[in-house]
Formats: sequence, structure tokens, C-alpha cells
Amino acid sequence: MSPVEDLAQLLRDVRSSISEARSQDELEQLRVKFLGRKSRLTEIMRSIPQLEPQQRATVGKHANQLKQTIESQLADRQGQLAAIPMGPGLDVTLPGSAVVQGRLHPITQTIHAILSALLPLGFEIVEGPEVEFEYYNFDALNIPRDHPSRESFDTFFLDQPSPDSKKGRPLLRSHTSPVQVRVMERRKPPLRIVVPGKVYRPDPLDPSHSFMFHQVEGLMVDERTSFADLKGVLERFVLALFGEGTRTRFRPHYFPFTEPSAEVDIACAACGGEGCSTCGRKGWLEIMGCGMVHPNVFKAVGYDPNKVQGFAFGMGVERIAMLKHGITDIRLFFENDLRFLGQF
Ligand code: PHE
Repeated sequence: MSPVEDLAQLLRDVRSSISEARSQDELEQLRVKFLGRKSRLTEIMRSIPQLEPQQRATVGKHANQLKQTIESQLADRQGQLAAIPMGPGLDVTLPGSAVVQGRLHPITQTIHAILSALLPLGFEIVEGPEVEFEYYNFDALNIPRDHPSRESFDTFFLDQPSPDSKKGRPLLRSHTSPVQVRVMERRKPPLRIVVPGKVYRPDPLDPSHSFMFHQVEGLMVDERTSFADLKGVLERFVLALFGEGTRTRFRPHYFPFTEPSAEVDIACAACGGEGCSTCGRKGWLEIMGCGMVHPNVFKAVGYDPNKVQGFAFGMGVERIAMLKHGITDIRLFFENDLRFLGQF
């Protein structure tokens, strides 16, 4: 082999071995191997004076370049190795172990979807306390004491005396509507709020009941707000949440805190409105309650019912998540079974 070919081969060896050196010791060995007194490079350099005059210049130039390359590669690799923390039992260049990625609970995801559909319509997010007074959960919402409609909102009362006798007994709120009152008490219209949160009712667990579940409440109040505004907002909301083309119907209903009141149904996605087992042969699925804010609620918060109008709505998050995903048992949401949760 000619000295020039030798140098080319050496360059290839140098590149691969230096970049793969795993310690300063290994690098030192390579330095001796490539630059030491017995190295092939030193041998070639020593032989230069005996070469033909034309060859001397070329070989000399290549040999010097190679020497510089080796020195700079050794220095680079030394810098890299110094930057990697290594010690007994620790080699950070080994591949890591995979990290299991977490995700949001399907109920949290559904709350996010509901809020994302309402925020573009100008609603802002507000929260209220889960431990509530009888006054906000009932009285101010036009549900008087001893009125039979209280029974439809069966409630957990706290086993504690009230810290404020005017506001009645402390309880776990049975709906998110008390937050309507809390917000109107301290703010003036116009108002457009959405309220996500947990609510509690002493129902025995079964596929469609849980003693704790989530609601999203909505409230809009302004000088002129009509039932047509209510329909417009809720129809837009349904299209955003369930998809363009979803049909909606408003069915008269009763709530003490709204008048008139309605329940909103969407056409059953499973049968397209024909009637099937998902919708109980009705073709429609109920998704929320709504109505125009009752004048007595406005009076309770100090608004003049002749000067302001408003609408409110409230929906169960678990119910909507079940409809969206075809889930038939509410208890699945609260069992923390990763085989269930991992599907969302
Ligand atoms: N609070 C009612 C419920 O829990 C829902 C609702 C909210 C109805 C606002 C009308 C207006 O059933």
C-alpha cells in the first residue's frame, strides 16, 4: 500500500473508533494507537525523508492534516464524554424506560368540550362552593321551605349547626343553580356565565344514578333576553357539541326557578329518531333543563324583574358523556379502572 492510501485508511479508522469511545481511558488508548511513537502515522512521517522528492510534499501534507484531524476529534470526543454524567452504575447513554402517558378523565374531557362549545358564544367560567347554604340551593331559587318541589331535589344536609342562621342549614349542593344566585348577588347585568362543578344527591347507586355527579350551569341576563335567545344559544351549543345536523327539540317542563321552563332533547344518534333501545323507543334523548329566569329569583338577588330578563340552563355531564360514547353504566366513571379510562 502506498503511504497516501495508508493515510486514507487510517482516517476511516480514526473517525469510527474515536466517536465510539465510551470513556477517557479508551480515548487515551486511541491517542497512543493513532499518535504514539509506534503508530502507523509516526512511521509514515519518519519515512518522508526517504521518499521521492515529488511524493514528499503530498505525503507530508496529508500526514499533517491527519494528525490535526486526530487531535481535534480526540478533543471533541473528550468534551462530549465530560458532559455526560457517568459513574458506577450510571450510564445515561443507555435507552430510557418508557413512561406511561396519563390522560384526562372522560368527565373532565366532556366538561372541556361543553365549555369549549359555550365560550365562543361569550360565556365566562365561574365556580361556586360545593358546601352550600339552604338559602342558595333552595330559597333564593323560588323553592320555599315545605314546598313539595324540594323533594325532587333530595339533599344531603350537613350534620352541623348553621354558621349563618339567615341562610339556613349547610348542605351539599344538589345542583349548580345556586351559583346563579351567588353571581347575581354581587354583579350587575349584563351577565353570561357558565358554571361547571360537582353536585350531590342521596340516590342509591345504579346504572344511571350516582350520589355525586357533575353539572354545567349556564346563565345569561340582560335588559332584553328572550326565549328565542335561549333557543338560539342552545341550538348552536348542541351543533358544536354533538355535530352539525343534530336535531333539537324543546319540550315544556317545570322548574321552580324558571318560567316558562323546558327540557331540551336531541334526536337519538343511534337510530336517527326512529326509536330504538338507546332512546327507549322515543327517538329523542333528554340532555338538559332550561327556561327564563323566574321573577322571584331576580327579586331575591335585588334585580328589578321589570327591567331585566334572562335565561338559564343546566345539564348533567355524566349523562352527556354516556350519550356521546355509548356508555350504559354511570358507575364506570368512578371506579378508576384503567381498562375503562384508557379508552378515552
Ligand atoms: N338545576 C336544574 C336541575 O338540576 C337544571 C336547570 C338549571 C333547569 C337551570 C333550568 C335552569 O335539574
